[in-house]
Amino acid sequence: MSETDINNLDQKILFDISTEIFIKNWSIYRKIIENDNMSHRSGYSKLKEILLAEMDRPFSFLDLACGDAYYSSRTLRDTKAREYIGIDVSEQALSFAKEELSSAGFETILVNADFFDFDRIVRQPVDVIWVGFSVHHLDIADKLEFMKKARNSLSAKGLFLLYEPVLIEGENREEFLKRFRETYDRHWRGLNEEEEESLFEHVRESEKPETTEDWIKLGKNAVFTKAEKVYSENTGLYEIFKYG
Ligand SMILES: C[S@@+](CC[C@H](N)C(=O)[O-])C[C@H]1O[C@@H](n2cnc3c(N)ncnc32)[C@H](O)[C@@H]1O
Repeated sequence: MSETDINNLDQKILFDISTEIFIKNWSIYRKIIENDNMSHRSGYSKLKEILLAEMDRPFSFLDLACGDAYYSSRTLRDTKAREYIGIDVSEQALSFAKEELSSAGFETILVNADFFDFDRIVRQPVDVIWVGFSVHHLDIADKLEFMKKARNSLSAKGLFLLYEPVLIEGENREEFLKRFRETYDRHWRGLNEEEEESLFEHVRESEKPETTEDWIKLGKNAVFTKAEKVYSENTGLYEIFKYG
């Protein structure tokens, strides 16, 4: 794929409660990553294990809602990645991503756009589609539509992978928020009071997790042949799903 296979949509960037925290102040999320509050380290190490085991050919990697690509750029080192395409609404995050990927050794394309529209941006099939912590912002109908688009955009034997928050079976959203708060108090570090408030507002207003079973069911309904959970991190909030 080359720049000419990328359609730069001239679109108005969505600026709402789900994106505000990332567009206005990337440093909050950067602290979350640095303190490993959301288990980036172990989750991305699982992603690397999967890529090394299953992608034994040169592959293209589409990173949707890529943020600053801090972990994806490191994860792709020593894999057979030949090309990286990152899409995100936050220009600030993309400018950091450019630096992170500057010595990656493979072709890199970064696009400032809504990840939901990736199929109008990337015009060639891709080998791996990865979304870290972002599909849960969508309503259930949009989750399914998004997953169908992912299914249709993969090359033969391509992989679609998500790292997302999960509801415990029988847990409602209120109970999830309570569990998030308890997990925050026990495990999270590094945010000051104001940053903490922004985070809670973001989680309260825009997180729509699904149960493990429903994340798998969405994949099956999107007509993936295989849909499975492949990883749970140790706070119990986030899991990785693999579809192919
Ligand atoms: C929780 S961060 C995840 C970043 C990265 N994927 C990771 O694993 O750390 C969510 C990212 O999604 C981006 N984002 C949120 N809504 C988006 C949208 N509709 N389209 C594109 N990017 C979006 C934010 O700017 C932010 O970079």
